[in-house]
Amino acid sequence: MKKVTTATIRNKKGKEKISVLTAYDYPTAKILDEAGVDILLVGDSLGMVVLGYDSTVPVTLSDMIHHGKAVVRGASRAFVVVDMPFMSYHISIADTMKNAAEIMQKTGAASVKLEGGVEICDTISALTNAGIPVMGHIGLLPQSVNQVGGYSIQGKTVDAANKLLQDAIALEQAGAYAIVLECIPYQLAKAITEQIGIPTIGIGAGVHCDGQVLVTNDMLGLYDNFTPKFVRQYTKLHESIKEGAKQYIEEVRTEAFPTMEHSFEMKNDVYLKLYG
Ligand code: KIV
Ligand code: NA
Repeated sequence: MKKVTTATIRNKKGKEKISVLTAYDYPTAKILDEAGVDILLVGDSLGMVVLGYDSTVPVTLSDMIHHGKAVVRGASRAFVVVDMPFMSYHISIADTMKNAAEIMQKTGAASVKLEGGVEICDTISALTNAGIPVMGHIGLLPQSVNQVGGYSIQGKTVDAANKLLQDAIALEQAGAYAIVLECIPYQLAKAITEQIGIPTIGIGAGVHCDGQVLVTNDMLGLYDNFTPKFVRQYTKLHESIKEGAKQYIEEVRTEAFPTMEHSFEMKNDVYLKLYG
């Protein structure tokens, strides 16, 4: 089983679609890796689907490192990417380098992902020049929710679409090996995909991207506070977990569980000395 690398990912463009799923813990990473996913993204969606915040803004560098470590332990084939969280790559290039190095060294992940286009290309060049593979992320940028004023489709006007194409080109020039396109019209995603040499990974970006990413907890029906239009639920874990839990609670209450089958027995001579 060959490990996925940035070269594997780049080489898939135009040949085979790249599958990406998020993971935040060891068991899920292990299952998704065994299923054969190409990339495991330790997304800062962690904040919403695992930690219960209402945006990704509260997620810290130590949260990302804590969960990143667990995911790396579960991944044997998949390429692991860790999101740089809110404000961990904006203060200065020196500060960004320190934070990215901490993610790489403490988690053992192979890459980081940063939200933004032209504005952060100097930062991305510094990272890639230092040997840190960077995945870009443009379109809807959840870390900017407070500035943008909500989550909505991006790139709908001529200016906005042109800006996103320029962002994608700049990211490729800065050395990114792939770019996430989040919530943009499929025609724009197609144009970007055709005009850059690195793979695009879509989420709510139509059928023409080089790969696809979903938040695993959405895809498995575990997080069902809200299900966006671009998600397909492949199973309903929320319901199966609730069913299992209900059955357990009922069996504890009715004394149907545990049974003698689940019990450990003391040797008879010990029993007689103690209680005989
Ligand atoms: O945090 C995340 O899960 C992401 C993906 C949705 C691309 O950034
Ligand atoms: Na993210």
